[in-house]
Amino acid sequence: MHIGFVGLGRMGQAMASRLIGAGFSLTVWNRTLSKAEPLLEWGAHLAESLPALANVSDLTFTMLTDDNAVIQVYDPSDGLLAGDVTGRLFVEMSTIRPDTIKRIAALAVEREAALLDVPVSGTIGPAREGKLMALVGGTSEDLERARPALDVLCRRIAHVGPNGSGAMMKLVLNMPMAIYWQGLAEALAMGVQSGLDLGQMLDLIADSPAGLAALRMKIPAILGQTDEVAFDITGVRKDLLAMTVTAHLLGVPAPTGSAALASFAAATTAAWGDRDLAELIPYYIELAQKTTGT
Ligand SMILES: NC(=O)c1ccc[n+]([C@@H]2O[C@H](COP(=O)([O-])OP(=O)(O)OC[C@H]3O[C@@H](n4cnc5c(N)ncnc54)[C@H](OP(=O)(O)O)[C@@H]3O)[C@@H](O)[C@H]2O)c1
Repeated sequence: MHIGFVGLGRMGQAMASRLIGAGFSLTVWNRTLSKAEPLLEWGAHLAESLPALANVSDLTFTMLTDDNAVIQVYDPSDGLLAGDVTGRLFVEMSTIRPDTIKRIAALAVEREAALLDVPVSGTIGPAREGKLMALVGGTSEDLERARPALDVLCRRIAHVGPNGSGAMMKLVLNMPMAIYWQGLAEALAMGVQSGLDLGQMLDLIADSPAGLAALRMKIPAILGQTDEVAFDITGVRKDLLAMTVTAHLLGVPAPTGSAALASFAAATTAAWGDRDLAELIPYYIELAQKTTGT
């Protein structure tokens, strides 16, 4: 099976490298060419265009920033769906809105191709180690076609329904997490302002039922001990926008999601957008200090 991979950012690089390591033949494309270079050194081929990549690939993965990026990359006039894609399978893994994925899947089907939405739970480390959890929307037949490659990337593959269901499950899974970071930022800023030690508060929370599994991994980012960015504040803003819009369309008011969205949006406006999502906490502490002049 020849695989195409589009979108060689933080997650895409890790996943494409793992597929090459497992022996798959890979053709890659990235908007910024320089990010493809490490993969070319490891034996990947470079596609000169998106239609050319789709033409040589039985299975094409896409791992892109947001809905707009996915819409552009699949554009039937000059993107992945521009050429003859009869019988091809596309596996869209970005975190985007279910209604967007349904539109792209319909375009693929019109061209006698197929698409699975397969957003993943897990960040760069699990992507490198093949320990992601895949949330699959699409048909069982298409999932079986993609399974040999997905098995290399994932510790668990959950088929949750037709196209759009994988995207919806990803929003359901990530929404409490995004709101958690907002709640944690408020609580910790309150503690710091009253004189408690940030490191000690984090240690105690991590050792209590209020400490999610993700918290301990993020403590170095919160304490400013690392510059590594696994997923940035702008990305969480994008996810919360997708979550709250989707919730409202389904009649769910989502007041806490909306409050978290406002906060991540304000941090992005204040130039914290490219920092790790856990740095919402130092941002909030700074905000409190500015408010009180301390
Ligand atoms: N990072 C995580 O921990 C994590 C975990 C699970 C899921 N996700 C989801 O996975 C997706 C990718 O995340 P990431 O962290 O890998 O993001 P990233 O490092 O910012 O990479 C984004 C990729 O999208 C490409 N892109 C953006 N706009 C484009 C456009 N208009 N046309 C073509 N390509 C475009 C970028 O190309 P350039 O190189 O040219 O900018 C890059 O290859 C997101 O939807 C995110 O929510 C991320």
